[in-house]
Amino acid sequence: MLSAIVMALTLTACSNEVQDTHPNQPVTKRKAIFKQMLRTLEPMGMVVREREDYDRQTFLGGAQKLRQLAMEPWMHFTADSNYPPTRAKPDVWQEPAKFTQAQKKLEESTEKLLRAAESGNMELIRPALNSVEESCKSCHQQYRGKI
Ligand code: HEC
Repeated sequence: MLSAIVMALTLTACSNEVQDTHPNQPVTKRKAIFKQMLRTLEPMGMVVREREDYDRQTFLGGAQKLRQLAMEPWMHFTADSNYPPTRAKPDVWQEPAKFTQAQKKLEESTEKLLRAAESGNMELIRPALNSVEESCKSCHQQYRGKI
């Protein structure tokens, strides 16, 4: 019974998602990093919107992790990595200088968020977090397709 359920789950996973058979799996790697970014950012957003309590140490830990993660996806956008299951638009490879600018925007905004988190001052943290979210969003609008 259990194995039947497992089988069914495995089958749906396979039919919905294209397997990444590329050497080094750059698409899989960058997607995993982006997911971690989202998982790190989301609870911080809850704190800033006063849906969760602010704990200075926990929030600082999140800001440090996000600062680190902000540098990590880009090395996996290699020249030959525009293949399914990517959602990246061809513009990533067609306008590399602008794509790099969007990366820098995220790196700068996460750096500012880290400084604000160190200060422990919510009046600085709130706008800094908003600007990180804005960096995610504006890059996605330009460089991430639907699918
Ligand atoms: C410089 C551009 C850029 C920035 C900045 C950026 N992203 Fe992305 N993001 C992308 C691209 C391009 C993809 C599509 C990657 C792919 O499918 O190959 C993506 C994909 C994702 C995904 C989907 C991963 C998956 O499994 O398909 C998530 C979640 C995500 N980003 C979260 C974030 C968060 C959160 C931030 C901000 C903290 C952020 N991104 C900042 C360009 C960016």
